[in-house]
Amino acid sequence: MEYQRIRNLLFRLDPETAHHAVELLLELATFLPPLLHLLEKRFLVQEEILSQELFGRTFPNPIGLAAGFDKNGTMAPSLHALGFGFVEVGTITPRPQIGNPRPRLFRYPRYRALQNAMGFNNDGADVIAARLRRLRSRSFPLGVNIGKNKETPPDQTLHDYRLLIQLFAPLADYLVVNLSSPNTPGLRDLQNERFIRELFTMASDLTDTPILLKIAPDLSPQQAVDLCALAIESGGAGIIATNTSTDYSLLPGARSFGGISGAPIRERSFQIFEAIAKELFGKGILVSVGGIESAQEVYRRILAGASLVQLLTPFIYGGPPLVRTMNQELAALLRQDGYATIQDAIGAKR
Ligand SMILES: Cc1cc2nc3c(=O)[nH]c(=O)nc-3n(C[C@H](O)[C@H](O)[C@H](O)COP(=O)(O)O)c2cc1C
Repeated sequence: MEYQRIRNLLFRLDPETAHHAVELLLELATFLPPLLHLLEKRFLVQEEILSQELFGRTFPNPIGLAAGFDKNGTMAPSLHALGFGFVEVGTITPRPQIGNPRPRLFRYPRYRALQNAMGFNNDGADVIAARLRRLRSRSFPLGVNIGKNKETPPDQTLHDYRLLIQLFAPLADYLVVNLSSPNTPGLRDLQNERFIRELFTMASDLTDTPILLKIAPDLSPQQAVDLCALAIESGGAGIIATNTSTDYSLLPGARSFGGISGAPIRERSFQIFEAIAKELFGKGILVSVGGIESAQEVYRRILAGASLVQLLTPFIYGGPPLVRTMNQELAALLRQDGYATIQDAIGAKR
């Protein structure tokens, strides 16, 4: 069935119910290897020109699933089979959390946007770690995105991250410290020099697993660059830019809470990414996310310095066929410009 028709059915349900239905099916599919194999044949683009080694693993293509779709780590193998070169699960908090009151997720189809105020709803670190242990022999790269519990007092915050890093470092190819969700009160305030220095210094003593910092698009480019530089100086392996935006002027009819994602944040997210790349390219791995919904946009981010890109909202609107098309067209764009491998194009037009 065409994705368009599946989407029409799903969009008749409220967004969270639709998500739960999809999650149930994709979780079920993880227990059916022949089905995964079929999906992979249909959707996963594995051309040599798109493949690269990073964090000691092979990324078959550079388009990954951003955090927030598979918060509980229940569907990663299915999402890989549906075309993603890598999957990031989470955000995971130490203790289970129900998140903010509903409704907290809204579609804006006219603008190919979403607005969410989920608030790190997740099953908690122990349950999800047990799930991820079953994926140890997986064939694809896995990132784990971590965050503090809402109720954790400020003087205990570092302790939350310590526990999460210790638990998930052995289970992931990379970790992401998410200080940029707008939906946990005070979280974005941790995007400050003192905390970032303390956190990354502590983290590099705890593990060799690469740890990336994920930042908000609502910092000024200079602020973003300074904080990212500090994270890398303090032992961070790279940057993911960006999370959702709280600039509600970007989306006509936006609510006045939560974060906006998808097409309306594309330019904002690119500008912040570009500023970071100009300063930090070559010093850490740079991942670009926010409103990426075409191969041209992936290519633009790669040329600007992104080793990898991620998407979430465009996946809701375009489904697995979009990821496949983006990868196929990206391979064509690289060839057209005479690049033999994706590595040659990364950062070529900084
Ligand atoms: C419903 C929803 C939930 C999200 N949850 C998380 C999350 O738990 N952790 C996180 O780091 N980012 C989260 N994000 C942000 C995305 O990972 C991504 O950074 C952002 O949506 C911009 O990308 P996009 O335009 O491709 O959606 C979430 C986004 C959406 C739409």
